Amino acid sequence: MEYETIQVNKMGPEIGAEISAIGLAGIDLAGELSDQTFAEIDDALVQNQVIFFRDQRLSLEQHIRFGRHFGSLHVHPVAPGIEGYPEILPLHSDDKVQYSASAWHSDVSCDPEPNLGAILYAKVLPESGGDTMFCSMQAAYRGLSDKMQHFLSGLEAAHSSTHVFGPSRGEKDKRPSAVHPVIRTHPVSGKQGIFVNSVFTTKIIGMKPKESEAILQFLYRHIETPEYHVRFHWELGSIAFWDNRSTQHRAIADYFPQTRTMHRVTINGEAPYYKPDLYY
Ligand SMILES: [Fe+2]
Repeated sequence: MEYETIQVNKMGPEIGAEISAIGLAGIDLAGELSDQTFAEIDDALVQNQVIFFRDQRLSLEQHIRFGRHFGSLHVHPVAPGIEGYPEILPLHSDDKVQYSASAWHSDVSCDPEPNLGAILYAKVLPESGGDTMFCSMQAAYRGLSDKMQHFLSGLEAAHSSTHVFGPSRGEKDKRPSAVHPVIRTHPVSGKQGIFVNSVFTTKIIGMKPKESEAILQFLYRHIETPEYHVRFHWELGSIAFWDNRSTQHRAIADYFPQTRTMHRVTINGEAPYYKPDLYY
């Protein structure tokens, strides 16, 4: 897509781009954006897999309204939202509460229909540290040999949440689980990407435990490759918008006991599927 209203500054060849408005220093996500701008942001997201905005001033309502342009919003099955704003998930850590999310993951892949993406907004930051890393699952897939790509492409994996969130504490307290293809086709770009992660994936279906463990551990090591990564340094008002269908992320937990508060709005997604890549 030729961008007419936004400027896309790529942060690396594989993943990540900073977005600003053409002719202006920045882009104001709190303001009224045209359909064209939303279409361009959507395209930049799919192409770059995670996009970043600086210097935003969003109210809770504006954050929700921006998110709704990309789909219906997700309410986390376990973690509570902000009072009166269940669509906003606060992620808070300080000297008492250590929230880290420091293992590579895609968000709630245990859901039968995992999130499309999330829009994370920095509210309070430590003096230094607290970066977030993102990894392109499409670059990681392309980094595998043809033989390994073909081997993985027929497989499915189980994803669970009980081991992450603990056992259910009542009828409304859901603990989703699902089976997804190990290699997932992106519904918009058609590109293939790895879709197992160290937090929610429990096993590869139809394999012996040792086989499953060896393959999963290999993939988790493979995605540590720095060439597939971008690392984002937050400033107050920064926003990261990631495509949860084609990326994984992890927080850098290096700022304890300082305070860090982020607000997340999450967009509902669809069931992952695998389609052989005919252009491969
Ligand atoms: Fe996450």
